Amino acid sequence: MEQYVIRGGNPLVGEVEIGGAKNAALAILTAAIMTDETVVIENLPDVSDINVLLEAIAEIGATIERVDRHTVRINASTIGDLSVDYEYIKKIRASYYLLGALLGKYKRAEVPLPGGCNIGSRPIDQHIKGFRALGAKVEIKHGAIMASASELRGTHIFLDVVSVGATINIMMAAAMAKGNTIIENVAKEPHVVDVANFLNSMGANIKGAGTDVIRIKGVETLHSTTYSVVPDMIEAGTYMFAAAATKGDVLVKNVIPKHLEATTAKLEEIGCDVEEFDDAIRVSASKRLGRTHVKTQPYPGYPTDMQPQIAVTLALANGTSIVTESIFENRFKYADELTRMGASVKVEGNTAIIDGVEGLTGARISAPDLRAGAALVIAGLAAEGITIIDDIVYIQRGYEDFEGKLRGLGAEIQRVTSEREIQKFKLQIG
Ligand code: EPZ
Repeated sequence: MEQYVIRGGNPLVGEVEIGGAKNAALAILTAAIMTDETVVIENLPDVSDINVLLEAIAEIGATIERVDRHTVRINASTIGDLSVDYEYIKKIRASYYLLGALLGKYKRAEVPLPGGCNIGSRPIDQHIKGFRALGAKVEIKHGAIMASASELRGTHIFLDVVSVGATINIMMAAAMAKGNTIIENVAKEPHVVDVANFLNSMGANIKGAGTDVIRIKGVETLHSTTYSVVPDMIEAGTYMFAAAATKGDVLVKNVIPKHLEATTAKLEEIGCDVEEFDDAIRVSASKRLGRTHVKTQPYPGYPTDMQPQIAVTLALANGTSIVTESIFENRFKYADELTRMGASVKVEGNTAIIDGVEGLTGARISAPDLRAGAALVIAGLAAEGITIIDDIVYIQRGYEDFEGKLRGLGAEIQRVTSEREIQKFKLQIG
């Protein structure tokens, strides 16, 4: 089982390059199968979620060619099977985007119902509501969602919940429906906009992505395109908090600063210096940071995927902070791990009360999920002594070369697979 071993205490200093957004790329890869022509997608992050989804798309018959580590060529004219294997949905929930893509193109799809995950129950009732509103028959049988329609007809859908997944899934199905669709109360995340831009580059007619209302004129067919995925605002924000928590000075490159406004505002509020450039953001912190209250909200509010990262930083701040998680019901599983490092965190329902401490000490901890795992690495980098993190497979789902990029900033971190390698690391650092 792979682990990270970290010796904390070094301020992170230097430059880090951000990759393509995982949560945009997952949807774009599935939307790419909606044409029979060849699609080239660039700036893909080389992370396990992407690689698993590519396997799922190949498994239903599409032709996938890896041009290089961050570029694929997809041709879906060879798709023969419209049901996705449970194996894949078990590994990544985002396989459910194949529902919208296959239903939009073939008017039929069968995808296993995704389970919950470590951060909450993750229902997909809004996705199903949208497909039914477009005229599809949707049943849940033997653990799978079966959707079919003689034809999909444009309609007016008002989402009950602001949902990234439902917005994207319904947008894909509606892109090839007959007539016009209006979807209201949609998610406005940059990755939703990126998927809409991608579909439009294939000949779709989607307007309003990034606002509360998306308007779609259905088209008969979609065509080839070459598209580069938007930079990953969550990867970028993670390094921004790593700089803050270690009192470092980091230039985060290849970002769209506007996407990070809520994060930047919070970093400045707690005392960081943040400097924005056209496609980069510099974060530095020289003194002990201050407390704040933060509540996660749909974009452009403070992102839930950045909640563990700010909580870890506030664990070292001067004063008491309150973090409220309003999107998912179980996103504080890292709190117990942080407590083992000397933090003072009290979780009550969807709120964490954090009394900042002077310092954390290294400990043996486990990554409970993707973003909490990345946040615990930040805690280890800021802690005094050695931290060993188990279950780092979660982190590799969404962060390309995490330890390599951190080492490039002066972190003492190594990926290890045995006690012997841990001892070797300890000897090396002396
Ligand atoms: C996407 O998940 C992201 N995943 C998540 O990132 C992210 O945390 C989330 O959006 C919110 O920004 C991907 O894009 C692959 P939602 P998604 O539908 O689409 C409720 C990461 O770390 N809801 O916007 O599943 C739901 O329970 C991951 O990269 C319904 O009630 O999130 C939640 O409370 C973690 N019914 C809220 O909406 C539905 O049909 C927001 O969920 C759908 C959602």
